[in-house]
Amino acid sequence: MFTLAHISDLHLTPIVGFGPGHWNVKRGLGFLNWARSRRRVHRQDVADRMAADIWRHGADHVAVTGDIVNLGLPGEIGAALTWLKTLGPPDKVTAVPGNHDIYTRRMNGPSCTEIWRDYIAADSWGASFAGAPPQIFPFVRRAGPLALIGVNSAIPTRPLVAAGRVGRDQFATLRDCLVRLSNEKLMRVVLIHHPPLPGQTAPRRALQDAAELADVLSECGAELVLHGHNHRDSLLWHPSREKPVPVVGVASGSAARTHGPEPLGRYNLFRFEPGGIEMVVRGITDASRGQVVEIARARLQPAMQPLFV
Ligand SMILES: [Fe+2]
Ligand SMILES: [Fe+2]
Repeated sequence: MFTLAHISDLHLTPIVGFGPGHWNVKRGLGFLNWARSRRRVHRQDVADRMAADIWRHGADHVAVTGDIVNLGLPGEIGAALTWLKTLGPPDKVTAVPGNHDIYTRRMNGPSCTEIWRDYIAADSWGASFAGAPPQIFPFVRRAGPLALIGVNSAIPTRPLVAAGRVGRDQFATLRDCLVRLSNEKLMRVVLIHHPPLPGQTAPRRALQDAAELADVLSECGAELVLHGHNHRDSLLWHPSREKPVPVVGVASGSAARTHGPEPLGRYNLFRFEPGGIEMVVRGITDASRGQVVEIARARLQPAMQPLFV
């Protein structure tokens, strides 16, 4: 048995290093949103409790599907590296960026793909699956019986837009990876920040080429697709040539209070067993006590009952 934990959308604070050289309209509006609302929702102590719970419950590896920071500032990204290191070493933790990590073209410092490189790039086993340099994504890593395929959906966008795009180059490599890894008889787990299928979120926050990604998954298959971005749990089954592909979204792993339809902090455990995949949802159900408890548990199968409450 192998256990993969999935956590996402930590939106870690504090926001640091916000100088004149980093200022633009997008960051200004993002800062106002954070100061007025998000700073009261996302708390690092909740993320830390989830991290401790993850290892206590037997995780072998953790997938972090982006939005680790808020405004994509180099200072925030550096602070997030410290958090990633406390979560675990790079051979136990794999991350992909979210739209808040790659937020705007105005960087004035190194980007998350540079600072988080050890967590966000192929391992030595997966290097042969990579596209031509300087392409970083998708990258492939081995974790026990799993092949983790990290896709980048984050692109710098205009103010008030949180859309994403995979792009033609990544699709070509992704198709090739999925076919080759299928021949290796590994469980292919695709990690991406944005919900990967059409219609999963409003157009200004959606993956612009979701229809193409849906086609790649139909054609090549995958054993599991994990995403974040919506800050809500979801499970869809996407048809493929071989068998339906479970597409699972996880809520934020740091929410200390509910925010509209967004629940308190949660993460998921996937136990890969010979007979299939068992999914366990763990998180906080009482904001005042803040204890991490089991919320739901089920074997992933297309005809299953609704899992989330
Ligand atoms: Fe997010
Ligand atoms: Fe996001």
